[in-house]
Amino acid sequence: MTAAPSVTLRPVTRDNFEAVTDLELHPHQREYLASNSYSIAQASFYPNYHTRAIYAGEELVGFMMFVVLDGVEDEEGEYGIWRFMVDRHHQGRGLGRAALQALLDEIRSDPAACKVWLSYVPGNAVASSFYGSFGFVDTGIDEEGEMVAVLDLTMQPVA
Ligand SMILES: CC(C)(COP(=O)(O)OP(=O)(O)OC[C@H]1O[C@@H](n2cnc3c(N)ncnc32)[C@H](O)[C@@H]1OP(=O)(O)O)[C@@H](O)C(=O)NCCC(=O)NCCS
Repeated sequence: MTAAPSVTLRPVTRDNFEAVTDLELHPHQREYLASNSYSIAQASFYPNYHTRAIYAGEELVGFMMFVVLDGVEDEEGEYGIWRFMVDRHHQGRGLGRAALQALLDEIRSDPAACKVWLSYVPGNAVASSFYGSFGFVDTGIDEEGEMVAVLDLTMQPVA
């Protein structure tokens, strides 16, 4: 049996953005998040929005966008993971788990990082148990009907 390819997060650039916009979800998952095109457009207007392409080896398999929250309503060091998807052809291979771990490692490299927020559609059972396994705790439904969850980085990570 061959080992799973290593997962890396790379910037979205002029060389890979079209491939990122071509990544696909299963039809029932499309309501779970905005399109990658929309996210890339958003990130072009807000310097605190950061996009990442997920690679397994040299193969593009997914997309993430995280946000350094602005410190107005939030404390310094609060982050949001606002988009996260693995292409439908590559789901269920452990790549999403490796990508989320890599992004949390990147966020933890900021000494000021203290909390990571995200939200998901309450009916998305995979997302609920998946994020919970990283230590995210549900905090309640927001005004858009999404479940908000938070990870406290000041707690020791679960081994
Ligand atoms: C959530 C998502 C990013 C996970 O990516 P992935 O590469 O499939 O994840 P993994 O293979 O690493 O699996 C992660 C966990 O989810 C579970 N899982 C993944 N797909 C599943 C499915 N269709 N049904 C049930 N469980 C599933 C796995 O069992 C795994 O749990 P484990 O590590 O304890 O075994 C991917 O399913 C996705 O893109 N979903 C649609 C978009 C979405 O919901 N984004 C998150 C909310 S914004």
